[in-house]
Amino acid sequence: MTATPAPCHGGRLPHLRAELAAVRYNEAAIRDRLAVPATSPLPPAGHALGLARIALGQQDTQGALIRLLLLGQPIRLSDTPQLAAELVDTLTNTRLVEHAGDVLHPLVRLTPFHDLLLAADLHNEDSAEVKPDAVESPHRPTETLARLIPRETVGRSLDIGTGSGVHALQLARHSDTVLGVDVSPRATAFAQFNAALNEITNTRFDIADVVSGIDDDEPFNLIVSNPPYLVSPERSVVYRDGPPESAHVGTRVLSEAPARLTHDGLLVCLTSWGISNPGDPAREIRSIARRTGCNAVVFVYAVRSGPDDALRWNVHRREPDQIHQAARRWLDFYREQGIGELAYGVVVFTPARERQPWFRTEQVTLQGQEFDRGQLRDITSALDRTHRGRIPEDLTPHPDHEIESVGKIGTDGTPTVREQLLCSTRGMRFAVECGPRLLNAIATGTAPTTSEPTTEVIVTMRRRLYELGLLIGGADD
Ligand SMILES: C[S@@+](CC[C@H](N)C(=O)[O-])C[C@H]1O[C@@H](n2cnc3c(N)ncnc32)[C@H](O)[C@@H]1O
Repeated sequence: MTATPAPCHGGRLPHLRAELAAVRYNEAAIRDRLAVPATSPLPPAGHALGLARIALGQQDTQGALIRLLLLGQPIRLSDTPQLAAELVDTLTNTRLVEHAGDVLHPLVRLTPFHDLLLAADLHNEDSAEVKPDAVESPHRPTETLARLIPRETVGRSLDIGTGSGVHALQLARHSDTVLGVDVSPRATAFAQFNAALNEITNTRFDIADVVSGIDDDEPFNLIVSNPPYLVSPERSVVYRDGPPESAHVGTRVLSEAPARLTHDGLLVCLTSWGISNPGDPAREIRSIARRTGCNAVVFVYAVRSGPDDALRWNVHRREPDQIHQAARRWLDFYREQGIGELAYGVVVFTPARERQPWFRTEQVTLQGQEFDRGQLRDITSALDRTHRGRIPEDLTPHPDHEIESVGKIGTDGTPTVREQLLCSTRGMRFAVECGPRLLNAIATGTAPTTSEPTTEVIVTMRRRLYELGLLIGGADD
């Protein structure tokens, strides 16, 4: 288990955020300083980490704190005379660092994530020596999920596998109350510290195994989860594998959490699953959706072969022999489970209520999109209405998305518009080519009424654009 205690609540914690803000320890300033683009996670890894160390240059206060709290390197106080004694006191008092002689040693990593500061364990995810109960800093899948969670105002939210508390603390901005649960007491201790650090008071953090252990029966309007989702024979690290005796945690979230949703609630879970039938990559999820009585839309962003996946997750091991052995073990496990390929996706469930559930799969890319406000809600609501044959007549472009013209230069040098695409500019990327008649129907917000041969195509396209959240209707029921 991890020897370092979780950070400490009392004492100078109320001063910490302001003292760090005063020296510009925030995401925008750090990205700027280290030249890390918004598309890459902090802290930078590999090659980018080397460049970041060079970019830090001399030891001014901000640079020293980046080294200490983000990159996890000890610093000498004699090298950083500008570092205020008060700040050193706050950092040691809250147990973010340990003071030994002239040196400050980091005890945790403190990552700025949007407007939050999040303490988590200081470990190197690329090393084979991760402690079983290490608490993970925000990482790429954290960001992926954060970008997609609908930022609608809701009553009660739940974050399953909260870790540092990151999603719960973001949910707190648009929920009356939030419950963050984790099977690891170390994670809930960090999450509680992070709530206090960020002065967020409407979150509670409890220990629970998925949803068992949640001590109230009130349903939730929004449930989110970035659980341990790797499909593998490993059972040693709780954030990656779940508890030792547990079945695959991602699958358990999809199976167990729907019972805790309100009748119009939404569950958003980033997960992966084994594919037994390559012709039907979402079959496993469809059968859980049916069992739980949920409508479902599955956004698949990667499908990998067993050998590809087994190697990808084991290349961090030091020796080629170790990599080989681990990959073989994983492949044997896939074989036993009847798994040929692995799918990675974002799964969204909503209760079907008394109706026949619908199920939809979309292949997506998650690259380069802006934070979204409500794409998943738009899509699930639109799919629900089309399923009931209730597509609104007055469809217009969604204000979050845009029509993009792709031009070309002809051989005579004349620029012409080659195609026009209605594209999502937030959340997941969808781009649908629109011809002039479809554009006209979109621009005028009218459904075609004539019986020309192309009318059926226009109707189908409008429906598709609506189901992708690119068009919206007027008053919805
Ligand atoms: C991949 S980490 C995600 C942490 C954080 N939510 C994020 O997005 O950065 C998964 C988290 O799930 C927790 N966890 C693992 N098994 C669990 C279970 N059976 N029930 C609840 N939480 C679990 C781990 O302790 C870990 O904190």
